Amino acid sequence: MNSTATRTLAPVDLVSEREFLGSALRDALIRVLDSGHYILGPEVEALERAFAERCRCRHGVGVASGTDALSVALLGIGVRPGDRVLTTPFTFFASAGAIAWIGATPVLADVEPTTGLLDVEAARAAIDNGTTCLLPVHLYGQMVDMRAFRALADERGLKLLEDGAQAHGASRDGVVPGELGDACTFSFYPTKNLGAAGEGGLVVARTDEVGERMRQVRDHGSPEKYKHAFVGTNSRLQAMQAAVLNVKLPHLDAWNARRRELAAGYDAAFTGLANVTPLGAVDGSTHAYHQYTVRIAEDRDGVVDGLRERGIIAGVHYPLPVHLQEAARDWGYGPGDFPVSEALSNEVLSLPVHPFLTADDQARVIDAVRELTGNA
Ligand SMILES: Cc1ncc(COP(=O)(O)O)c(C=O)c1O
Repeated sequence: MNSTATRTLAPVDLVSEREFLGSALRDALIRVLDSGHYILGPEVEALERAFAERCRCRHGVGVASGTDALSVALLGIGVRPGDRVLTTPFTFFASAGAIAWIGATPVLADVEPTTGLLDVEAARAAIDNGTTCLLPVHLYGQMVDMRAFRALADERGLKLLEDGAQAHGASRDGVVPGELGDACTFSFYPTKNLGAAGEGGLVVARTDEVGERMRQVRDHGSPEKYKHAFVGTNSRLQAMQAAVLNVKLPHLDAWNARRRELAAGYDAAFTGLANVTPLGAVDGSTHAYHQYTVRIAEDRDGVVDGLRERGIIAGVHYPLPVHLQEAARDWGYGPGDFPVSEALSNEVLSLPVHPFLTADDQARVIDAVRELTGNA
């Protein structure tokens, strides 16, 4: 029996979210079923317009996943097989994997210890002759400094793609995802701040050239039916997923605000504690807190286990950095190459921060963290 006192606190609570939305999700899905329009179409176009507007972009292109969003965007902005694309080793594997998937090579640079975000100076130092594109990741819901990355890309004549999979609704110094990059990708994996009822993704872009090319990449390089200008793929967003997302999108800002409220509660509770260091929001950042993450320098895994025994599911994002993955063995890196990423991989722990976490739930998490880190 999962009573209130002992219920498991998970990283997301999609059941509470569905209850909160009442019959809206079911109504939207039935509308799509009744319409007979299952792929692209009006629901997808409405989502694309809404996202483009929020991102101050001219184009939104709905695709099948956040991973496809990356490969469609890379091809859309003109990255070619054989190019080298610079990204972070401290991210979900897809950020780097998508680069290799299109036949380009990932180049990696280390991250900032306080945020886990790609370090712009490390990126500058890692740019080599073959590098044609920068791909920073807005990790955990916090944007990188896009003004600095835009300046670096312009200075070195590089393309600039943002991985915004975790950063729906974030901003930094007044800049939103997609506003300064050549394109920005999003994931609608169900656990994201804005999640579909299945797979989904979207790319925004400012220029007609990139927007139109991405639209063709996701549909077999097709400018018009049964004409194919180049080889693309099938990565068209499904209408049912777009309908779910259109129901949820109006709530995104309030849900993110609740995440920030919870994060402020954690920050206050953990101030001054030994062995618990939040990876905080930088000044000027409106953090979307896809994850609320702390560094536990001593025995992170023991704390994860202890939390689980107390019915609290903590995440580790990510336990093995990209350059140490078996899949990356031919990319020319090894242990010790990115010490900050490697240290973070051993120390990070993400606590439940979803918008349906109650004050009592959060107090339970805080008490457990205090106890398990010797701060009780
Ligand atoms: C930073 C990052 N990039 C890319 C992806 C890939 O998104 P998807 O799972 O929708 O393919 C994810 C999500 O899992 C992610 O967190």
